[in-house]
Amino acid sequence: MTRRLFTLLLAVALASLSLQAGALPARAKTGMVISASDIASEVGWQVIKGGGNAVDAAVATAFALAVTHPTAGNIGGGGFMVYRAGSGQATSFDFREAAPAGANAEMWLTNGKYDFELHHNSHRSVGVPGTVAGLHMAWKELGSKPWKELVFPAVKLARDGFEISHALARSLEGMLKDADDFRKYPASVAQFSKNGTPYQAGEILKQPDLARTLERIADQGPAGFYEGETAALIEKEMKAHDGLITRDDLKKYQPKKREVIKGNYRGYELIGMPPPSSGGIAVVEALNILEGYDLKANGYGSAKNVHLIAESMRRAFADRAQYLGDPDFVTNMPIPRLISKEYGETLRKTINPNKASKSSPSTFTWPTESQETTHFSVVDAQRNAVSMTYTLEYGYGSRIVVPGAGFLLNNEMGDFNAGPGLTNEQGLIGTPPNLAQVGKRMLSSMAPTIVAKDGQLFMVTGSPGGRTIINTVLMTLLNVIDFGMNAQEAVDAGRIHHQWLPDRLSVERYGFSADTINQLKAMGHNVAEVGGQGVDEVIVLNPKDGMLEGGVDKRQADGGAAGK
Ligand code: DON
Repeated sequence: MTRRLFTLLLAVALASLSLQAGALPARAKTGMVISASDIASEVGWQVIKGGGNAVDAAVATAFALAVTHPTAGNIGGGGFMVYRAGSGQATSFDFREAAPAGANAEMWLTNGKYDFELHHNSHRSVGVPGTVAGLHMAWKELGSKPWKELVFPAVKLARDGFEISHALARSLEGMLKDADDFRKYPASVAQFSKNGTPYQAGEILKQPDLARTLERIADQGPAGFYEGETAALIEKEMKAHDGLITRDDLKKYQPKKREVIKGNYRGYELIGMPPPSSGGIAVVEALNILEGYDLKANGYGSAKNVHLIAESMRRAFADRAQYLGDPDFVTNMPIPRLISKEYGETLRKTINPNKASKSSPSTFTWPTESQETTHFSVVDAQRNAVSMTYTLEYGYGSRIVVPGAGFLLNNEMGDFNAGPGLTNEQGLIGTPPNLAQVGKRMLSSMAPTIVAKDGQLFMVTGSPGGRTIINTVLMTLLNVIDFGMNAQEAVDAGRIHHQWLPDRLSVERYGFSADTINQLKAMGHNVAEVGGQGVDEVIVLNPKDGMLEGGVDKRQADGGAAGK
């Protein structure tokens, strides 16, 4: 073989070694937005392109999602934003819904019996919305573009309409089938169908009432939502249907800036959301346990790893249930201990590497939860990053469109516990930290997370999925940090979920081999195969070339990355 031929063959061999095993990520240099709606991602990217920063883009994306992704994008719900400046400072904004003045811990009891419908599917299930106030607070502190300019693309999308995708058409049609959904509320039927006939994919959805509400928000800021016409319309709807929220509740709503939860995993700095979300604490706690294992040497997808990860989840969830709630009401949360390395080590010692633990006799467990929340990730040219998750709780929340105002109300009050002492094996919880109280925020699992390495931004991640959120985010972090997957591979890989009680290990169908599943069963795990878990929209900053790499989670159809 000539020397030249040898060099050529060597070059080909090396090049093929560097090829990815899985899907390639989206790549961009200047900035990137990834959300569950490609239209909304593009709105956010245009803001960055026009010189706006990550918070500006997040505000514009969030308002656009309230129009194009009505299942979870919202102005009538709440959520959390984690922010890290390119220079390293981090903060978070809590705009979780709050219980109105008429709320109390026994409010879900009818004649002394727990009333699921009242808790989850009624005007009483609506918490005082936080999204508009929260976005405004983040913008006021960190934004750079005029507020109006950021709300305007959403006004336009609502007023002029946008093309309905196949997924949205299917989802809206589903909401018209069941008498319990839109059909209970004439304004919801009017907004999301053609007089009761479902929209088809390709048709244009215009939302004129929503456009006018958004215009009031664009012109007046939060007052355009929490006062005046919008507030009056919300109060009218509440009064007409035995709901609790008054104009006074709306006027009093305050978003909060909160100190982020910080952790460290194999030299990567973790920045997460503090209570009233359990997300940041649970993710850090589980990672502290896992840091003591060589997951990479065990092998990706091995039964050994899945077992260790599941056992870490089990323990983090037990603590979540026992300790966490709204910090303005629950003052004895042992947060420093829960996220300490020492505690991680203590918990690790309780794990048998070959045998599933048993979740201790169920003092309590959790009710089922829907999958509808939405997460988006943003990085700008200065490498400022926003990780934001917000929700209406169920898909389309309470399903109640406020007549004349054109937006959906949440049913987030369903995240409060059922009632004092109501804990039982069937799925009710009655533990004190998360019982409803006036002004209290209900405990959440949302886990918007940012990761830095050596002082530089490394990764932005988060997901919907109720309590599975915590474990989806955890697994994506492991996929990137331990297994070196790119953003898209990390998002595509199979996911598992364990939440302590019920004592069940769910694994995504086709995510793991039959051999792995059989071994897990032999270790004593109660394995259940499930459909897709979560929708994690991830951006990773590739340290080798400084490019932003995006993983779009195709477990939901309309998501997309926008950037250049
Ligand atoms: O705050 C929470 O944890 C839940 N209300 C989130 C709901 C959710 O994620 C539903 N789905 N994606």
